[in-house]
Amino acid sequence: MEFSIKNGNPEKQRNDCIIVGVFEARKLSAAAAAVDRSSNGYLSGILRRGDMEGKLASTLLLHNVPGTLSDRVLLVGLGKERDFREREYHRAVEASIQALDGHGASDAASFLAELPVKKRDIAWKIAQMVEITMDAVYRFSHPQCKKEEERRGIYKLVMNVPQRNDLKQGDAALKQGLAVASGVRLAKELGNLPGNICTPTYLASQAAELAQSYGLKLEVLERADMEKLGMGSLLSVSRGSRQPPKLIVLQHLKGKPGKKPVLLIGKGITFDAGGISLKPAAEMDEMKFDMCGAASVLGTLKAVAEMDLPLNLVVIVPTCENLPDGDANKPGDIVTSMSGQTIEVLNTDAEGRLILCDAITYAERFEPESVVDVATLTGACVIALGHHASGLFGNDDGLIRELANAGEETLDRAWPMPLWDDYQEQLKSNFADMANIGGRPAGSITAACFLSRFAKKFDWAHLDIAGTAWRSGKQKGATGRPVPLLTEFLLHRSGRA
Ligand code: BES
Ligand code: MN
Ligand code: ZN
Repeated sequence: MEFSIKNGNPEKQRNDCIIVGVFEARKLSAAAAAVDRSSNGYLSGILRRGDMEGKLASTLLLHNVPGTLSDRVLLVGLGKERDFREREYHRAVEASIQALDGHGASDAASFLAELPVKKRDIAWKIAQMVEITMDAVYRFSHPQCKKEEERRGIYKLVMNVPQRNDLKQGDAALKQGLAVASGVRLAKELGNLPGNICTPTYLASQAAELAQSYGLKLEVLERADMEKLGMGSLLSVSRGSRQPPKLIVLQHLKGKPGKKPVLLIGKGITFDAGGISLKPAAEMDEMKFDMCGAASVLGTLKAVAEMDLPLNLVVIVPTCENLPDGDANKPGDIVTSMSGQTIEVLNTDAEGRLILCDAITYAERFEPESVVDVATLTGACVIALGHHASGLFGNDDGLIRELANAGEETLDRAWPMPLWDDYQEQLKSNFADMANIGGRPAGSITAACFLSRFAKKFDWAHLDIAGTAWRSGKQKGATGRPVPLLTEFLLHRSGRA
């Protein structure tokens, strides 16, 4: 994909297609009105006949519209004008790209960024347009999985801005959008790879590539290193697997020297069969996505490095498989975490928290300003919030608010959940300092409660992305979330936004 910014008149563009919006009740956007004028009412005629009602995300492709220089005009429904907000902008832009999928138009000029969106400036609209477009044209391909197919559709998008003095802001926003999109893309690619390719060792090799490309500091702890550190909880999960576990540490140190870093930790279970507490067979393939937390923090790091943000950022990825085996964790086993706290493993399928707790303890040595962990942690979070919002937990209201706001800004939403001490009781064990599960009620909260016991020394937040990291069904695939949220959060922390 190639993007550019322009300030032009729709009827004068020479492209394969121009994209203009139409509200309900035959209300033309400014660009649509301009096309209508130069075509002597061609568009309003179509609307009058009822061929396009302007319903949100509906589209109508017209050819050889009189008075224009482009081959096609794509009308995009915007819904009711007074209801047009961020989400509607998102849906309209997405529909405009999808409508051209499989068509002959490869070069388009979009006029959707001219649409007023309350509270949002041109930079927001341009960055979003880039991210939405890259998202819509993404196709998974890999030499060992599915060969790349020739895609018909948009390859060049000229994003028109309403005013000449929007050009500069638009250009900066384009760069930012591309950086976020490249992070999202990496997260999707890693997430979509199957467990037999995307192993802990593979993730470490991908981290090495990132380190190489952007000059980052990389350290990979091997099993022996983790044994020395006493990471008994993480290692207990990996014992059921033939794949060696890794703890990946990447550092982007472009902030003030000595300034405490922000830490991101991503759950990297490259396949979660549940262990001895084996999962049912149906949809178990989707547990290849159990490393999407890891993928998202690596994607975020890529976006940050791409923008060269002035910020100290450390990314930690604890990664292993969770499989049944003669040497695997058994229900009732008691393990000792790096923090010294002991854990009764009542369910071997609650393994994410077992690897994260040792990574969180390891984080202490970086004296972080804030720590955010990201994990496909609980099915219960999907029950609570569905697929629209990630669950947001933490021990500091300020940090929670920053993350919630970043999610709101990028439409990559996260919703705050309670973390009251009342829930901690559910983790009581008769045989160890805590159990690794808290029963059926409030499953995503007790999982967060478990993690909170290891995050006493810094501001900490936890994103449960079990419902947002991938889609099931016909559209099965990783979403790249919450890379947009995390990148926005770090843009703010770096002072760039
Ligand atoms: N990776 C799963 C969580 C998950 C399950 C995410 C389904 C998305 C869809 C996690 O390791 C897990 O198995 N959690 C258990 C915890 C339970 C045993 C307390 C769960 O949610 O069932
Ligand atoms: Mn599990
Ligand atoms: Zn898991």
